[in-house]
Amino acid sequence: MNTPDNGVRPSDGSVVALVPAAGRGVRLGGSIPKAFVTVGGTPMVRLAVEGLIASGAVDRIIVMVSTELVDSAVALLPPSDSVHVVVGGAERIDSVRAGIAAAPDAAYFLVHDAARALTPPALIARVAAELRTGHRAVIPGLPVTDTIKSVDAAGAVTGTPHRAQLRAIQTPQGFAADLLRSAYAAEGIPATDDAGLVEKLGIEVRTIPGDPLAFKITTPLDLLLANAVLDGASVGRAVTP
Ligand code: C5P
Repeated sequence: MNTPDNGVRPSDGSVVALVPAAGRGVRLGGSIPKAFVTVGGTPMVRLAVEGLIASGAVDRIIVMVSTELVDSAVALLPPSDSVHVVVGGAERIDSVRAGIAAAPDAAYFLVHDAARALTPPALIARVAAELRTGHRAVIPGLPVTDTIKSVDAAGAVTGTPHRAQLRAIQTPQGFAADLLRSAYAAEGIPATDDAGLVEKLGIEVRTIPGDPLAFKITTPLDLLLANAVLDGASVGRAVTP
C-alpha cells in the first residue's frame, strides 16, 4: 500500500532513504514542480524512487512533497509498503527534517534528491555499503572539469582553489542516523547540502567516486540530456516502465 503517513516500522540497522521533492522550483520551465517533471515519460520523483528500490540497499523510502501534491505523489509512486509520502517544508532543510522525524527507527539515512533521477542503483548501493563498513558520513563526488573561482559581490575574483582538490558533490548522501539527527538539531548557519551540516559538527565526511549519470536535472539543457540518456539504450540504465 502506498499511502501518506508517518508510519514507523522497527527494523534493525534499517537504511531509510529520504527523498526531498517538496520544492516549488520551476527552473525547468512550465508550472510543474521539478520533481514532478517527466523524463522519458516518467516523473523524476518516481525514477528516483525506482532507483533506490533497484539498489537493493534501502529498507524504506520517505518522499517529502508539498501538501497539495501528496495525493499526486501517492498515485504516481510505485505501490509498495516500503514507500511513504510525508509533507515537506518551506525550505529543503525543512523537508529533510520532516523526513528525519518520520523515521525514528532508522539506523542509516540516505538523502537523495528527486532531481538526480537517473542515479545508477549501483552508486546508491555503494554509498550504503560504505556506511555499513563504519563510515558515518559518505557522499559521492566527481572531479570538476571547469576551473572554479570564488568571486565577491561585484564579480571580482577572490580566489582560485586548486582544481585537483575539488569535487562536485552528488546524492545520495549517506549518514549514520544519529549523526544526521545531531546535525539537524545543531543547524544554524545555512548549508547547501546535508553533509555541510555534518561538517559543521567537526565530523569527517568521506567522499567516494560519483557517477556522471547522477547529475542534477535543473535546467532545460539538463532535461534534454536526461531524455537523451533514456533514449540511448547503450548509455541509459534500466528503468521500470
Ligand atoms: O532547488 P534544488 O534543486 O536545490 O532542490 C533540491 C531538492 O530539494 C529537490 O528535489 C526539491 O524538490 C527539494 N526541496 C524540498 N523542499 C523544499 C525545497 C526543495 O524537498 N522546500
